Amino acid sequence: MRYAAITGWGTAVPSRVMTNADLERMVDTSDEWIVSRTGIRERHVVGPGDSTTSLASEAARRALAHAELTADDIDLIIVGTCTPDQFLVSQACLVQAEIGGKAAAFDLGAACSGFVYALTTGSQFIQSGLYERVLVIGADTLTRFVDYTDRTTCVLFGDGAGAVVLEASTEPRGLLSTVLGADGGGHKHLYIPGWGAFVPESAGIFPEYRPYLQMNGNEVFRFAVRVMGESAAEAVAKADLSFADIDMLIPHQANLRIIDAAARRLNLPREKVWVNLDRFGNTSAASIPIALCEAAAADAFGEGDNLVFVAFGGGLAWAAGVVRWGVAGVQRLAAATADRNGASPVLVS
Ligand code: ACO
Repeated sequence: MRYAAITGWGTAVPSRVMTNADLERMVDTSDEWIVSRTGIRERHVVGPGDSTTSLASEAARRALAHAELTADDIDLIIVGTCTPDQFLVSQACLVQAEIGGKAAAFDLGAACSGFVYALTTGSQFIQSGLYERVLVIGADTLTRFVDYTDRTTCVLFGDGAGAVVLEASTEPRGLLSTVLGADGGGHKHLYIPGWGAFVPESAGIFPEYRPYLQMNGNEVFRFAVRVMGESAAEAVAKADLSFADIDMLIPHQANLRIIDAAARRLNLPREKVWVNLDRFGNTSAASIPIALCEAAAADAFGEGDNLVFVAFGGGLAWAAGVVRWGVAGVQRLAAATADRNGASPVLVS
């Protein structure tokens, strides 16, 4: 049996930070309202020199360096994003142009669930035996589409990218189970009008055409609370595990109240839930890999630990998976480590 272990990881966020105090000066809101309703205190926001390409490429370079690989070693690049810099060509090709190599490259559109969808897809390419190494990136710059006069959306979003390297393993590492879902009928609750092939007609179709992210927050909130808990629990059951076997929940970072509801459903104490939305806001497809990298850097889990990823967002779509952390069974690392000291394989962070 082949598995797809995570052997490298990296992130990138823009240097510009927008605090709740900054937003207080832009719209009728308050730090107290934002923190109590969402948990967010600040977020990183793209400046003129940043792009989805620059963030995704930097996260990819870091993930490759961490895995001690180069772009030439990668067979496939998948970018989960709903804010590609161009529609033609794919974001993944733009990343490849930056980092080098000749990997196959394509994008995957599942909004905030994009990273878990892409992780599932990349893992399948390895498990099928078609590829040995896949680079999976979640990257979004949603603030480019946020209306900074609309207080109901502009406080929520930040920008960033996170990447992981997947490699074939003979041991159960990487994704052990996946639950993917979508309710296309909910497309009207969270979307960006226009910006696609339909643009020429958009102004006529939407009488009050506003090319900004539109969201029915209450509807999305109710949907999120339901699917986050349900899909995470289903992923745990599919992996033949119980909630007691879960070492860490890494949820999509949209709203602390949604995360708390998911943690309650899995019966997980707060210390087993990684939360960083206070500093990053909702970075869409980047949110889970950014949280994962931060938790990994803090040694929050180790070889053989079981993690749960769970996300929801535009589509409306959702995705959950159990990931077993570690590099056991990755032959390249086993050989390299055995050469050095004969010890069991451990990646140095
Ligand atoms: N500051 C102050 N007041 C505000 C703000 C703000 N930023 N935003 C809304 N309000 C007001 C509303 O106008 C309303 O006032 P009213 O009672 O006078 O009409 C009041 O606060 C309550 O508004 P609600 O919408 O009921 O507030 P709620 O507690 O539901 O929080 C929120 C709104 C934070 C948007 C919540 O519904 C939510 O998190 N929804 C999920 C959104 C989400 O996660 N979206 C991302 C999906 S991921 C993707 O694919 C991109």
